[in-house]
Amino acid sequence: MYQSRPHDEGLCVVDFGSQYTRLIARKLRENHIYCEIFPPSKDSPRFSYTIKGVVLSGGPDSVASDLASPLPSWVLNLGVPVLGICYGMQLLVKHFGGVIHSGVSREYGRASITYENRFMVDNLVTANSPVARIWQGLSQNHTVWMSHGDHIAQLPPVSVQSGGFEVVGRTARTIAACASCDGKVIGLQYHPEVKHTEGGSQLLSNFARHVCGVASLWQPNSMLDTLTKALQAQVLSGEKILVACSGGVDSTVTLVLLTQIFGKDRVQGVFVNTGLLRLDDAHKMAKIAEELCLSVHQIPAESLFYQKLAGVSHPEEKRKIIGATFVDVFTQFALERKTQFSYLAQGTLYSDVIESGDGGTGPQVIKTHHNVGGLPERLPFKILEPLRFLFKDEVRMLGAELGIDREILWQHPFPGPGLGVRIAGEVTEQRVKILQQADQIYIDFLKEKNIYHEIWQAFCVLLPVKSVGVMGDERTYEWVVSLRAVNSTDAMTAMVANIQMADLTTVAEKIISTVQGVNRVLYDITTKPPATIEWE
Ligand code: XMP
Repeated sequence: MYQSRPHDEGLCVVDFGSQYTRLIARKLRENHIYCEIFPPSKDSPRFSYTIKGVVLSGGPDSVASDLASPLPSWVLNLGVPVLGICYGMQLLVKHFGGVIHSGVSREYGRASITYENRFMVDNLVTANSPVARIWQGLSQNHTVWMSHGDHIAQLPPVSVQSGGFEVVGRTARTIAACASCDGKVIGLQYHPEVKHTEGGSQLLSNFARHVCGVASLWQPNSMLDTLTKALQAQVLSGEKILVACSGGVDSTVTLVLLTQIFGKDRVQGVFVNTGLLRLDDAHKMAKIAEELCLSVHQIPAESLFYQKLAGVSHPEEKRKIIGATFVDVFTQFALERKTQFSYLAQGTLYSDVIESGDGGTGPQVIKTHHNVGGLPERLPFKILEPLRFLFKDEVRMLGAELGIDREILWQHPFPGPGLGVRIAGEVTEQRVKILQQADQIYIDFLKEKNIYHEIWQAFCVLLPVKSVGVMGDERTYEWVVSLRAVNSTDAMTAMVANIQMADLTTVAEKIISTVQGVNRVLYDITTKPPATIEWE
């Protein structure tokens, strides 16, 4: 397994199960602070970069419960500054002898914080006191985002360990910000990682730079050199690499990176045509390979996938069949060549690692995500995952450095199970063809209108419903297509994209007049939550 980290120093984020943990890591990295997420394990993780500070996330537990995750002893033993957010703060306060109560002062959503007058100069929090260093530059009152049932009833007393704590800011209901007298243990009842908290990003940056003293800044656009050296040190001369690729951003960047380092003769891309791809995906992959001088072998497996999916309509069952069939096809190809290749490379991203539970306690599983990152380790290859520590936007920056075209790097996300989860109900070759054509019309329209890149993800969904229509003088009874377009930053939440009604009507007309078998088009106006982005 490829384990070299792309940076030398940074922060450690401890995940107590908050839905926002990933946002903490994202916000730090946006501020050029390298960090990784770790579970609150009893034993200290083996860090491969220097930890300059720790951030404790929020979480669903109450510190009053016997079942609550405790504060691991290694956190304070590291001897570096610690920032506790929400549940993380309550754990710290309790640890140092303070009192946490449940109920009464709970707050959800927007609240206004006021910092204590003694920390203010010219209406801004000043850095004069170490206690308030992390808040420096923030205005005396601002909006924060709250989500808590428990609150601080009493701060920890003065002790040798902490020197005592001070209140730094309050909302109308509770102590919202506190710190130990040396400013090294800091507690926030609010969530600085959430967009709605004004100054949250600056606060996290202040913590890393001014409290923890992180000096070596993470520059994702200069990581090519680091990755190249690490990969050259790992892959021995003459060893060959198979790369699972789909034409998407992550696997294309992986393939190009490895080909640029080791050459086309040692790096072989493998593209499985599942028959669940968009209309010109296979052709697009061949074009990318030609333009970027890559070696890519295509395996046509459409009929096998359709055969396995016949008669199946339950979303999870379809996902499992698609995942397993993909693995079978790829495995068979790879095993036939096992004497030639030493490594199997995949475009696994840091968000995949976190979601699979490797990085933290992980959120609840809503859907079993399948992508090429799901290949079994039982294959007789060593695994290479060069993007394992990068977020999507960092991969795009790396891709730009490698000279990959913007059209490829900024394409909308496409799920591993492909159109299989966009055809609600049974997947058949005929229904795939209908959806492929409708989707192509929709996406081409968005590109022509120059709005494709303003939208985070857009696609068509084929519903398992027929409706009555009238075309010419004839009654029709045909399938229904739903258009989806959402804006998001991390796919965890999504807003409906605001496409003009006239444009939607034009797309509907184009689809109905071109695609045989469709007589009605809908626009999905549901946000995530409560819906998910994909329909299945
Ligand atoms: P949902 O539907 O869960 O999707 O809101 C969030 C994002 O993930 C994509 N997605 C997948 N990506 N394998 C993937 O690689 C999958 O199985 C999968 N399912 C959903 C989806 O397109 C959206 O961008």
